[in-house]
Amino acid sequence: MNGARTPQLLPRIFGRCVHLSSRVKAAPNVSRISVDTVRWKSTAAASTMKGILCRTTGGTEVLEYTNLPIPTLKSGQVLIKNDYVGVNYIDVYARTGAYPSPKPEVLGKEGEGTVLALGPSGPDVTYHDIQIGDRVVWMGSGGYATHSAVPAETTYKIPDAVPPTVAVASLFQGLTALTLVTESSHPKKGDWALVHAAGGGVGLWLCRLLKHFGVKVIGIVSGAAKWAEVEAAGADHVLDRSGEGFDLIADVAKLTGVASGGIDLVYDGVGRATWDMSLAVVRRKGSIVSFGATSGAVPNIPLSVLSAKNITLARPTVFNYVTTREEFEDYASRLFGMMIENKWTPKIHSLYPLDQAPKAHQDLESRKTVGKLLLDTMLAGEAAPGSERAIRAARGE
Ligand SMILES: NC(=O)c1ccc[n+]([C@@H]2O[C@H](COP(=O)([O-])OP(=O)(O)OC[C@H]3O[C@@H](n4cnc5c(N)ncnc54)[C@H](OP(=O)(O)O)[C@@H]3O)[C@@H](O)[C@H]2O)c1
Repeated sequence: MNGARTPQLLPRIFGRCVHLSSRVKAAPNVSRISVDTVRWKSTAAASTMKGILCRTTGGTEVLEYTNLPIPTLKSGQVLIKNDYVGVNYIDVYARTGAYPSPKPEVLGKEGEGTVLALGPSGPDVTYHDIQIGDRVVWMGSGGYATHSAVPAETTYKIPDAVPPTVAVASLFQGLTALTLVTESSHPKKGDWALVHAAGGGVGLWLCRLLKHFGVKVIGIVSGAAKWAEVEAAGADHVLDRSGEGFDLIADVAKLTGVASGGIDLVYDGVGRATWDMSLAVVRRKGSIVSFGATSGAVPNIPLSVLSAKNITLARPTVFNYVTTREEFEDYASRLFGMMIENKWTPKIHSLYPLDQAPKAHQDLESRKTVGKLLLDTMLAGEAAPGSERAIRAARGE
């Protein structure tokens, strides 16, 4: 099995996939659903699936590619035959134990695929408008597998104009960034924002959205390889923290013209390593949104540090913004609506075959990745002849 594949199509993915689906639509007897029908009929009777089991906390060696039972549906859940699943830093925290979760566990908070079955019905149970055969993206748990049982509440039909790979590469990190800039903070046109780890999955979305709202964005990265993507996502200035002579406070002062900081909004998903910098560059009455801890948790801080500049501090999680069906639908439709309108495509770092999940974790932790990492649940050579995936695979995508 080869390692990660870097898709070369990404700037063109909208064009290509739209072309594919329009060909499919033009053929009277071949709909997108009927192509998939073959696959879900053939898998519907199966009782086992392939997945990555995280047996205990630890390094990537605790991730085991194995046969697992297909999950049994509870009320309100739908069974998905996954095509692609997203890898997020939260999966690393779950694996290492930084965010405790029961083990053994199938990691993975999001995916894309076809609805195979709905759970049991009942008087108060609703599946919203989700139907068997729908092509959907979802947020939930148990993603690193060919099948997942996920809440119908956080399952969303992929709009026709958005290719499935684009949809799944955008969902979790796009929704996170959207909630951070609409609920955790209130950016105004002309504000200065600073985004740590700007070349990461959430970081690129933050740059894109903040720019869209008229904010002046400074993106912090480590390594020149991330520079171009961060600029392409909309950052006005990029600073390389691994560069010689990097001095965040002095560099930011030069850009903003304010000696003591001048940043209205700081977005910090790095945590321990950047907290002091965030505190130093934020302006009087500015905001810090601390939303993650890739370098470790921010040590306990006395609340009085905030009053030194009357700083507003938020420590949010997307799961508490996107909780109800209404919230999920509202945010997902806003995200995909903005993507369609502005022709935004996420940067995908690599597609990894499912059994290469340990490699995906190693790469994410190495700080070398730019944008989104996806697992492809169909291992190389398994794509059904004539399927959209087989066509993409034949093109080396
Ligand atoms: N609160 C929420 O609801 C929520 C939801 C989703 C994600 N998040 C958080 O958002 C952050 C970004 O997540 P993501 O999935 O998009 O990951 P990511 O940003 O694509 O990858 C992590 C990046 O963090 C940076 N980093 C800085 N110090 C690091 C260290 N010591 N070890 C590893 N990485 C380090 C690296 O960028 P540089 O090398 O360029 O610094 C690295 O590329 C994470 O903290 C995650 O927990 C929070």
